[in-house]
Amino acid sequence: MSGRLAGKVALITGAGGGIGSRTARRFAAEGAAVVVNDISAPKAEEAARAIRAQGGAAAAHVADVCSSAEVAAMVARAVETFGGLDILVNNAFAKFDDTTITALDEDSWARTIDVCLKGPFLCTKHAIPAMQQRGGGSIVSISSVNALRTVGDTAYTAAKGGLIAMMRLVAGEYGGANIRSNVICPGTIATEASLSHWRKFPAGFAELMKMYPLGRIGDADDVAGCALFLASDESRWITGTVQIVDGGLTAGNKLEFE
Ligand SMILES: NC(=O)c1ccc[n+]([C@@H]2O[C@H](COP(=O)([O-])OP(=O)(O)OC[C@H]3O[C@@H](n4cnc5c(N)ncnc54)[C@H](O)[C@@H]3O)[C@@H](O)[C@H]2O)c1
Repeated sequence: MSGRLAGKVALITGAGGGIGSRTARRFAAEGAAVVVNDISAPKAEEAARAIRAQGGAAAAHVADVCSSAEVAAMVARAVETFGGLDILVNNAFAKFDDTTITALDEDSWARTIDVCLKGPFLCTKHAIPAMQQRGGGSIVSISSVNALRTVGDTAYTAAKGGLIAMMRLVAGEYGGANIRSNVICPGTIATEASLSHWRKFPAGFAELMKMYPLGRIGDADDVAGCALFLASDESRWITGTVQIVDGGLTAGNKLEFE
C-alpha cells in the first residue's frame, strides 16, 4: 500500500474512542498496519472493522494500558502480526476527577493518573525495544491544553503535564536510537467524551466557543492530521516538541474595547 506511512506498523491506544479511531483510520489510509487497542472490545473491534472495510490493515487488541503484562502482550502481538512496531500513539484516556485539589479524593487521583500517565509509561517502555529492532520509531502522546493553562480537573491536569515532561525526556534519551517523541496538546475536541460533558452546560458551551479565535472547537480530524505528520517521516527532524492543536485557545482572543 502506498501513502505517507507505507510499510509502517502503528499501535494506537484507546483507538476505539473519538480521536483514537479517527487517527487509526487516517494512519491506515496512509498505508500503515494498525493495532487498534482499547479496553472495550466492541469499540476496538468496530474501529478495526471500519479500517478493514476501507481496505486497510488492522488488528483489534483489547488490553488495559495500566497493566504491564497486557501491554507487553500487545506489543508482542503487533510484532507477530505485522512484523514489527514503528509508531506508538499514547491516546487512551479515562477521567475520574472533575474537581479542585481540596475536593479530590485519593482514589480518583490514583485511577486518573493510572490511565493518563502510567499507561503512556508502560506503553512507551514496552514499545521502545520493538522500535529499536526496526532501527527507530515515532511516539506521539496526546496531552491536553489543561497542561498549559488553567482549565480544571486536578489529577487529569497533573497527568497531562507529567506526560509532556516524561515524553520530552524520552526524546532526549532515545534520539540516539532514532526514536522520536512528541506531544500534542489539543483544545476542546468534539468527541462523545467531551460533548457529553458540555451537553450539561449549554450556556457554558456557547461561552467556550467564543474563547476560540478560529471560532469553533476542534474535531478529531484536527488532531489526527497533526498525529499523522508527527508519525510520518515528514517530521523526521522534529522531536521533544509540544504541538498545540487548539484553534488558538492558548494564544487568546484580542480584547475588543473600542
Ligand atoms: N476530546 C477532547 O476534548 C480532548 C481535549 C484534549 C485532550 N484530549 C485527549 O485526547 C485523547 C483521546 O480523547 P477522546 O476525546 O477521543 O476520548 P474517548 O473517551 O473518546 O476515547 C478514549 C478511549 O480510551 C479507552 N480507554 C479507557 N481506559 C483505557 C485503558 N485503561 N486501556 C485502554 N483503553 C482505554 C476508552 O474505552 C475510549 O475508547 C485523550 O488522551 C484525551 O485526554 C481530548
